[in-house]
Amino acid sequence: MPIIAPSILAADFANLQADVTMLNDSAADWIHVDVMDGVFVPNISFGLPVIKAIKKHAQKPLDVHLMIVQPERYLQAFKEAGADILTVHLEASTHLHRTIQEIKALGMQAGVAINPHTAISLLKDIVADIDLICLMSVNPGFGGQKFIENTFAKTSELASLLKVTNSKAKIEIDGGVNQANAPKLIAAGADVLVAGNFVFTAPKPKEVIQQLKSLA
Ligand code: DX5
Ligand code: ZN
Repeated sequence: MPIIAPSILAADFANLQADVTMLNDSAADWIHVDVMDGVFVPNISFGLPVIKAIKKHAQKPLDVHLMIVQPERYLQAFKEAGADILTVHLEASTHLHRTIQEIKALGMQAGVAINPHTAISLLKDIVADIDLICLMSVNPGFGGQKFIENTFAKTSELASLLKVTNSKAKIEIDGGVNQANAPKLIAAGADVLVAGNFVFTAPKPKEVIQQLKSLA
């Protein structure tokens, strides 16, 4: 069964506690938390104090996706805010290997995200060291965008790379995930599905989460 990680970016920011409580009571496995700095991506979301507030109520691991430049400057701060899994972008960290080691030394699981234009082959020398690879299936920065179809091929390519390198890293798909593309993603090798708008714009979000969870 896939790991389902609803993205809090699509929640009601004026009533985050209610949405976190809903996720606690749902079949969701993780809570996906999107941090945007307005530099790496053309949008600003929220930062450390908001994550601390979410952590107070969350009963599920926080899967924090940093869409920020020089993420290495803030690893300890995100740990203290409550991140369980910390994902940085390959395109944003010059010394990615060191960044990964530091995330793990802080006691978090380490993830690497790649943009839609970034080749899977660039992950070859890092897959053995990481717990999660986040394949962006939209250009990061906004929720509610259209899924990029090339992600199916990239997921298969990554699954093969993990097999030959004997990596246990999980494959996470982030952006535009819905009930139509999820089965094909799981078939291609996806382990974790992030879903923002598909979950939070539904009249009954918990049912949508349960449906995603029951796929495959
Ligand atoms: C996009 C974020 C995604 C986003 C997904 O930059 O990384 O996690 O919240 O939202 P949907 O599912 O609406 O595309
Ligand atoms: Zn994300």
